[in-house]
Amino acid sequence: MGKLDKQKVVVIGGTSGIGLATAILAREAGATVWAASRSEDKVAACSTANPEIDFMQVDIHDTDALKSLFEKTGPIDHILGVATGAERVMAPFMTQTDEEFRGAFNKFWGYTNLARQGIPFLADSGSLTFVSGTPARKCNPGMSSVSCTGSAVEGLTRALALELTPIRVNVIAPGLIDTGMFDSFGDSRPEVLENISKNILLGRVGQAAEVAEAIMLVMTNPYMTGTTIDVDGGAMLP
Ligand SMILES: NC(=O)c1ccc[n+]([C@@H]2O[C@H](COP(=O)([O-])OP(=O)(O)OC[C@H]3O[C@@H](n4cnc5c(N)ncnc54)[C@H](OP(=O)(O)O)[C@@H]3O)[C@@H](O)[C@H]2O)c1
Repeated sequence: MGKLDKQKVVVIGGTSGIGLATAILAREAGATVWAASRSEDKVAACSTANPEIDFMQVDIHDTDALKSLFEKTGPIDHILGVATGAERVMAPFMTQTDEEFRGAFNKFWGYTNLARQGIPFLADSGSLTFVSGTPARKCNPGMSSVSCTGSAVEGLTRALALELTPIRVNVIAPGLIDTGMFDSFGDSRPEVLENISKNILLGRVGQAAEVAEAIMLVMTNPYMTGTTIDVDGGAMLP
């Protein structure tokens, strides 16, 4: 018996990195899984590699597309919002335009949209999980927009946990994880990751599956709600 036998899981942002790793673990735990993102190519590649998961093309900001997805799934047990959902602008606050700063919050608006469309379909015994990030509570100069967005996601988690109980709402805060987020570094990716690793207590970046394990914990543990779990190799420590 898997921990998610006969349960239904929806992952928005589920075609790469942490989302895809969680979709795979949830399927292995016995769930029926729908995983969605914007890119047709990623959806096609994931469908071929993981035929037991139902991959769909959905933008987390597209209310109609989310409505169609939940009409297709019907009542569900767990929702994971993991989509990046925004451009990350890493620059000092005073050198960012207001538009750039506000743009980072598109991740947050994606999660609120997912919550509004998905919660009516969630079972009382179910869960909603979001993904923030270490900068929400420990950031370096140049990370103000990412930090504020992450804090907002963590605040939304606690507020919804209060309002939606007994539905459980939790957030996972990853540190630096080797995912598609680093694709833009191209050939210099290994060097960039190695340099970053020097500042992490455990001396390495994390893997998507290590974060997915924590997401599976909050999905399946019936006594966890309003919680933030850091999966960051000790990055919160100096
Ligand atoms: N990796 C890290 O070091 C790290 C650190 C802290 C926090 N995080 C957070 O972890 C989450 C997952 O990131 P990841 O590292 O796994 O990155 P990733 O490998 O790039 O995966 C991001 C996923 O989100 C999807 N996505 C992006 N925008 C979307 C949208 N508007 N609507 C629907 N899907 C969308 C992407 O697919 P499409 O492009 O096809 O839409 C992809 O499936 C993000 O929220 C990120 O901010 C990551």
